[in-house]
Amino acid sequence: MTATGYVHGYSGREAYRLGDQADTLAELLHAGTAYPAGSRVLEVGCGVGAQTVHLVAANPGVHIVAFDVAEDSLAQARARVAAHAPGADVEWHRADLFDLPFADATFDHLFVCFVLEHLPDPRRALAVLGRVLRPGGTITVIEGDHGSAFFHPDSADAHAAIDCQVRLQSAAGGNALIGRQLQPLLAAAGYHDVVVHPRAVYADGSRPGLVEGFTRNTFTAMIESVRDDALAAGLIGEGGWDRGIADLHRTAQAGGTFCYTFFKAVAVAPPSTRLLADPPAQTRMTDVSRFRLDG
Ligand SMILES: C[S@@+](CC[C@H](N)C(=O)[O-])C[C@H]1O[C@@H](n2cnc3c(N)ncnc32)[C@H](O)[C@@H]1O
Repeated sequence: MTATGYVHGYSGREAYRLGDQADTLAELLHAGTAYPAGSRVLEVGCGVGAQTVHLVAANPGVHIVAFDVAEDSLAQARARVAAHAPGADVEWHRADLFDLPFADATFDHLFVCFVLEHLPDPRRALAVLGRVLRPGGTITVIEGDHGSAFFHPDSADAHAAIDCQVRLQSAAGGNALIGRQLQPLLAAAGYHDVVVHPRAVYADGSRPGLVEGFTRNTFTAMIESVRDDALAAGLIGEGGWDRGIADLHRTAQAGGTFCYTFFKAVAVAPPSTRLLADPPAQTRMTDVSRFRLDG
């Protein structure tokens, strides 16, 4: 996909939402991702650097190469990392993941968060990425799945508003329900030892940080952002939309609850496969045990 096809857009509000999302969910999503010092990690589709700052903080001594197809987002990513982690070892590239400017088997680990959901052919993306991963290196993929959202009070209008986002993303070539497909996608792309951990975020009045950071500022804000497109496409009427959004906000008020599941997959590139069209003659020894496959 191109930068312009990105369903959430590249507004300042979206940049804020991505940062809020990453900060709120850092513990949930990054727990277990610990790369050995000295390893080379490629962050795919780094966006505004919302995950990069957490990768940097959790992995001292790691060389991170971060890239995105959107120049504006990259500039924001540089600024965010400079502000949060001055002197961090991060190299930035503007690149399309389907046309990577890196040699085969350059990286020990790949980190891909909330990118596949926007791509028309995620299996091909994973296979293409495998070219730059050294044999035995790992890939970590994190995605959400809007079908996993349930809440109290339940509301058909709120589900209808969420469904607008799912349909718009599908029309743009993406898939907002991709979390449940990570295992088969990675296996089909040729990776080995695929392990997927569902990671649920649950917010109620006893967890005000999650209510604010996730229910309101991440999930509901994301659905709200597609209002104009949903109405213009005739997916829903204005009254139904307003009721759905009001009901989503209701789940963040007293007595409301909200649950959503992310899927985190870790997989290993095989020693020599179709992932690597032309494997290098000399490969480094694999030491997967040093990388914690999280539990
Ligand atoms: C939802 S954002 C996620 C950003 C970041 N990974 C995060 O979790 O905050 C998706 C990002 O993928 C990027 N992207 C989409 N298609 C891409 C491609 N073909 N090559 C590189 N980046 C791409 C978009 O520009 C966008 O910044």
